[in-house]
Amino acid sequence: MNQSNSTEGAAPNNPSSEIIGKAHSRLDGHAKVTGKVRYSGDHLIEGVTFGYLILSTIAKGQIRSMDVSAAERSPGVLAVFSPFKSFKLYSPLRSDDSVTGEFVIPLQEPDVRYYGQIIGFVVAKTFEQARDAARLVKVRYHTETPTLTWEAGMSLAYFPGILGRKPNVWSRLANGVPSIEAALDRGAIKSEGVYTTPFEHHNPMEPHTAIAVWEGDRLTLYDSTQWVGGHQTNIAAMLGIPTHRVQVICPFVGGAFGSKAYLWTYSPVIAGAARELNRPIKAVLTREQMFTLVGHRPRIVSNVALSANSDGTLVAIRHDSMSTSSLASEYSEAASFATSRLLYRSPNIQVSHQILPLDIPSAATMRAPDEAPGTFALESAMDELALKLAIDPVQLRLLNYADVSWNNLPWSSKNLRECYRIGAERFGWSNRSAGPGKTREGDWWIGSGMATALNEATRPESSARIRFQVDGTVAVSVATHELGTGMYTILAMIAAERLGWPVEKIRPELGDSALPAAPGAFAAQSTGSVGPAVVSAADAAIERLIQFAITEPQSPFAGLKPEEVTYSAGFVRSKGAERVFGSLLEETGRFSVEASATAGPGDESAKYAFHSFGATFCEVRVNQLTAETRVSRINSVMDIGKVINPKTAKSQIIGALIMGIGMALLEETHLDEKIGRFTNANMADYHMVTHADTPHIAVEFIDKPDLTFNPLGARGAGEIGNTGVAAAIANAVYNATGKRIRNLPITPDKLLS
Ligand code: MOS
Repeated sequence: MNQSNSTEGAAPNNPSSEIIGKAHSRLDGHAKVTGKVRYSGDHLIEGVTFGYLILSTIAKGQIRSMDVSAAERSPGVLAVFSPFKSFKLYSPLRSDDSVTGEFVIPLQEPDVRYYGQIIGFVVAKTFEQARDAARLVKVRYHTETPTLTWEAGMSLAYFPGILGRKPNVWSRLANGVPSIEAALDRGAIKSEGVYTTPFEHHNPMEPHTAIAVWEGDRLTLYDSTQWVGGHQTNIAAMLGIPTHRVQVICPFVGGAFGSKAYLWTYSPVIAGAARELNRPIKAVLTREQMFTLVGHRPRIVSNVALSANSDGTLVAIRHDSMSTSSLASEYSEAASFATSRLLYRSPNIQVSHQILPLDIPSAATMRAPDEAPGTFALESAMDELALKLAIDPVQLRLLNYADVSWNNLPWSSKNLRECYRIGAERFGWSNRSAGPGKTREGDWWIGSGMATALNEATRPESSARIRFQVDGTVAVSVATHELGTGMYTILAMIAAERLGWPVEKIRPELGDSALPAAPGAFAAQSTGSVGPAVVSAADAAIERLIQFAITEPQSPFAGLKPEEVTYSAGFVRSKGAERVFGSLLEETGRFSVEASATAGPGDESAKYAFHSFGATFCEVRVNQLTAETRVSRINSVMDIGKVINPKTAKSQIIGALIMGIGMALLEETHLDEKIGRFTNANMADYHMVTHADTPHIAVEFIDKPDLTFNPLGARGAGEIGNTGVAAAIANAVYNATGKRIRNLPITPDKLLS
């Protein structure tokens, strides 16, 4: 394998760029809309049997007994597994090689830690037989009193271990300032508020599904995941087998939003049972099961205090946040982390985060974790401060614009001023009346609001492989993912650009742990990490092709020196000969020539801070009789570095903004605080945004390459669209009605009370 860590001179975003930066339709679009695409549950496996999970119906205690006799006698049933009769599973990993959703090892002990935990698994010849048999299992519990309320959790709150770069308490005070409280008292105008976001669920359209197929001691697992590589390592650990005996396949993901970043407990249960029975097993989670087995956004409370001089310059910022967590894992959603990234310049700043362990299922990253709830709090608070100061909200943000980052490093590239300017212009911000309740049309109050969007840019190491093939196509292979984001298309575009070969002749493959390793497809890091690896692999493959051309005896270039042969736009040339790579391969009797490369960050993070920024402006209409809120238009301007494919990137931001409307107005999971059950665990009672809730959304990009970040200059579009939007809507609702809603979602009851 040709290892190349070089990221030098590999910038295809030069003026001659023909493909990168131009809108390209999805290569997989036709297959998707015609139903040809295979999601995890769609793979047809000879002799597959079906599994159905049995979940706990108490939140805390132990299972005394499980009567499985009727289930075992039920037609078609092959096995009923329980904590009393199971196969051995081992601890999941707690390392950077994987993301573990839950630390409880399923079916190994009778303890119940939350309502909806896996306590049994029925395998039968058909799905219906498995499901019906599961209903015949009788469970006797010893029930303990669960801790389920915020108030009860408060007494157990603690600062979690430092997770990655998130500090629990981060403080910076000007010289001579004794405390953040003292600093807050120094400003002329102070604004303080408590902002909350509820339990929410990802609800991807595709349910989590796994099919486990063993051949001897080798496992092939078709699973819904955002990280085949992490999944492979972790499932092997839980099964107690070497990593190389597991292959995880997931070429398409039908939505994830963070819920498929993790290895959850259903996967080892399905894989373990399939090994035990020596039969392939498929199990699909029901919508209700997805509310407890695959994560949720925790409930988060932020206390934000801002203090400013009367000219609007910030004197102090304090943001303390808390989020619910589970005893089955330790997930920390530090809403205040977004504030610590120093969106605003202030001489005094302090943030902290604690978690409240409850007897509920595991929480997880969801749709811009930290920043989505964090910007709701901070950007609502900024709006409140602007009103108190009687300064325009955009002006207040410009007054406190941060030119350096939290660690005093310059931003690699920051064009947030432009985002504010262009967004305000497109939206028509100057026509807005500052005072609330000034504009009405018939029964509808109309208001406008804005907020800042932000997302940290990370770029883990990635590998990729490029293969010239005899049929004139080029395969580009990376173990990354297609989450609906357009990854197939941009892989092909980047390879096409670098090789000078048409996109239509590039064959991207991804979603298979056997392919060159890539980081998890989350945290908006795929394009920024995988893209440069493709560039490096293309360069390595060109070098390999030339080497092949001069050393292969049948080749017309045989015996030449490397410097006498060139590659350009698919052709190998010397003074006397010219061959397109397909012909060269055919003449020499070869199918392909390939090379792999790895690309990763250098020491640039010691010199720069990497962040994406943006601004979202929106208009809402609030009905004065029913208090229903409708978002009527959105203008969003995003600075995400170079945009590889404007068409799919725009779609991604629009999708995220739509989810932001859901967060602002609709989405909330209700917890029964007596028994620990999520009560609206279905798509009828959990309200998601539909087309009818979706207004005209205009998205623009600054599109300035961030070449310090990586040679493509692209930072990624995955999460930033989800940040700021809830605050922009809440601020617009205030502008329309004069009601400040600090606890999401903004439902009519809150506006009427
Ligand atoms: Mo994202 S919530 O890191 O998939």
